[in-house]
Amino acid sequence: MARPESRYVCQDCGDSTLRWEGRCRACGAWNTLVETLVGAPRSTRGSGGADPLPGPADPVPLADFVPTETERRTVGIGEVDRVLGGGLVPGSLVLLGGEPGIGKSTLVLEIVAGIARRRSGARVLYASGEESVGQLQLRAMRLGVMEDPGGRAIHVLAETDVETIVRTAESSPTALLVVDSIQTLTVPGLDGPPGSVGQVREAAARLTEYAKASGVPVVLVGHVTKEGSLAGPKTLEHLVDAVLTLEGERSGPLRLLRSTKNRYGSTDEVGVLEMTGSGLREVVDPARAFLGDRPAPAPGVVVAATLEGSRPLLVEVQALVAPAPYGNPRRTVAGLDPNRLALLVAVLGRRSGVGVGSHDVYASLAGGLVAGEPALDLPLALALASSLRDRPIRSGTVACGEVNLLGELRSVPGLERRLREIERLGFTRAIVPRGAFASASRDVGGGSAGNAESDDGRFRVGVLEIVAVRTLREAIEAALAPAPVNVREPV
Ligand code: TYD
Ligand code: MG
Repeated sequence: MARPESRYVCQDCGDSTLRWEGRCRACGAWNTLVETLVGAPRSTRGSGGADPLPGPADPVPLADFVPTETERRTVGIGEVDRVLGGGLVPGSLVLLGGEPGIGKSTLVLEIVAGIARRRSGARVLYASGEESVGQLQLRAMRLGVMEDPGGRAIHVLAETDVETIVRTAESSPTALLVVDSIQTLTVPGLDGPPGSVGQVREAAARLTEYAKASGVPVVLVGHVTKEGSLAGPKTLEHLVDAVLTLEGERSGPLRLLRSTKNRYGSTDEVGVLEMTGSGLREVVDPARAFLGDRPAPAPGVVVAATLEGSRPLLVEVQALVAPAPYGNPRRTVAGLDPNRLALLVAVLGRRSGVGVGSHDVYASLAGGLVAGEPALDLPLALALASSLRDRPIRSGTVACGEVNLLGELRSVPGLERRLREIERLGFTRAIVPRGAFASASRDVGGGSAGNAESDDGRFRVGVLEIVAVRTLREAIEAALAPAPVNVREPV
């Protein structure tokens, strides 16, 4: 049997060499050579057959095409189905990325169990290159999927050779193929280590070929490091149909499932899950999951109404401002954009009379949420002001709004949806940009009848008092609880 051939191909100019080199001889670029299979198409590689020239193909009139099976296979976890756009599409390739230890294998096993429960007859194949069959069984017992009616349909394969995995999947009717993880796979004929760009890409291409030909959905697990990725998921994004990422703080229970690409659905949906002793569970009320249960307002804490995709989430923004003992003040953020923090520190000092510039500043979002939305500007700025002045925000208050360089507030998308959640969760005051005020009063509860705008931009919808302000300075005035008598405020 002839061994398939590989070459090292420069990703910049396309030149190829037989051996790996640090620098491309043709264009001089560094670290651009990636091991690539050459010659026969993937499925016939290794069989040693001669390659006939391809004949013309047979294009299909688009109007006449009859799709084979289009109905989605729901996985039975509402939050996951929501992010997928209603379930797994037959023949699609889904990449599930996330940091090591975040819960990818757990989620994937629950998806496997969900499909097994619904697809009687066909088996579900879980190929694991990371864990032994014994380890998978322990996890399955912990999740309680063995007692499931579909439990017997789950088949596991401790294997890393992509060709063996595909042949095994082809050998018997399969409802779903899961590969955990793509970084452990090896392709016959490639010499690079598992996880190298060449191996990852060729393995994914082989699995795509299998998915499209068989109509079986394939889920790939991929590790992403904190820095973005090594030879991992990033190189795969254009190959797969959907990219889901599981985010969160490993030490905390909450996980956010996002889709950053979805050929069969919207990328606007996020799912909120909770890691429990027996696997990932749906969160009952996602909008309040990141709120925590603080008994009383505290300085430096502001509740923000953020929008993740189309879903409003209320989250606590926390800030601590402390005098810097050394020359260079520290700026540390978790879950927030450090550039926005730097900008807000400058704007607060120059435009709003809150001089935090010479202080150490720490800011974070509660529950391990990561969000880069401009609407978090206002709550973050309020948290900084509240911490510096050591005065809590008035109780029952939620804020959202973008802050510009002049210290003015700009309106945010989806204000109506945010206000509805704020009201539903029992808050009594919302501080929002004045610019959005007109549309908000129209959107929320029919506007003109009884909710007339007053000159100071305050109006009421049900129990919710809406405070619409133009500048950050006004927002701070409205947000901070009255100062205790006889206390001189630091500026
Ligand atoms: P895992 O799915 O192995 O993460 P990944 O595949 O992304 O590396 O799970 C990681 C963590 O989840 C592990 O530290 C233990 C925890 N865990 C639970 O808390 N409850 C459970 O039911 C399971 C299965 C795992
Ligand atoms: Mg794992």
